[in-house]
Amino acid sequence: MRQHWIFAAAYDTMTAPLERAVLAGRRARLLAGLTGQVLEVGAGTGANLPHYQRASQVTAAEPDAAMRRRLTARAAAAPVPVRVTSDAAEALHHPDAAFDAVVFTMVLCSVTDPRRALAEARRVLRPAGTLIVLEHVRGAGPLAWWQDRLTPLWSLFSAGCHLNRDTAAAIEAAGFDIVTADSSAPFRLAPLLEATAVPRA
Ligand SMILES: C[S@@+](CC[C@H](N)C(=O)[O-])C[C@H]1O[C@@H](n2cnc3c(N)ncnc32)[C@H](O)[C@@H]1O
Repeated sequence: MRQHWIFAAAYDTMTAPLERAVLAGRRARLLAGLTGQVLEVGAGTGANLPHYQRASQVTAAEPDAAMRRRLTARAAAAPVPVRVTSDAAEALHHPDAAFDAVVFTMVLCSVTDPRRALAEARRVLRPAGTLIVLEHVRGAGPLAWWQDRLTPLWSLFSAGCHLNRDTAAAIEAAGFDIVTADSSAPFRLAPLLEATAVPRA
């Protein structure tokens, strides 16, 4: 995978106001109660790590070496044991049913192939496991129109991020049932989906 050194260096500073206003609270709400083996996909610089409180171990996968360097530095200070890997979402080097929870936060907007990423998540998740998602997503009406037009340029400056992905539909199409979903609009350019889902039996 291409390394994004400038994006990685700027990421924590760039997102700090959003973290304070919205994201940190959402991260804590979704992650603090997770137990057992947790896989976080596209863990970035490790913004989620302080919020895991009860997991036995977090496997934090990050294919971009520039992001991974920061993630690794932060892993030692996490409240639970963290193992860092370089796996891409579309090809996870883990056996089937290896995890109690799989976490995507602000990642399904950026992966090359969301369909394959979610299929991999479903494969490595135990049948009673939980998928955790915090993602900005496609809006409706004029907002979606703008998102389609802005995404090609936006993507260039944000390491491949798409504003216009219908992530809830992709989760359901990948064989999950959404159990809780909160879709709010704290950002101007995209609604924020906070969801938990389980593999469909
Ligand atoms: C916007 S950052 C989000 C980082 C972190 N999850 C967070 O919540 O702050 C998107 C992350 O997705 C990672 N990413 C992009 N494509 C990926 C892929 N195919 N597989 C796994 N991670 C990917 C990027 O390297 C980057 O670290």
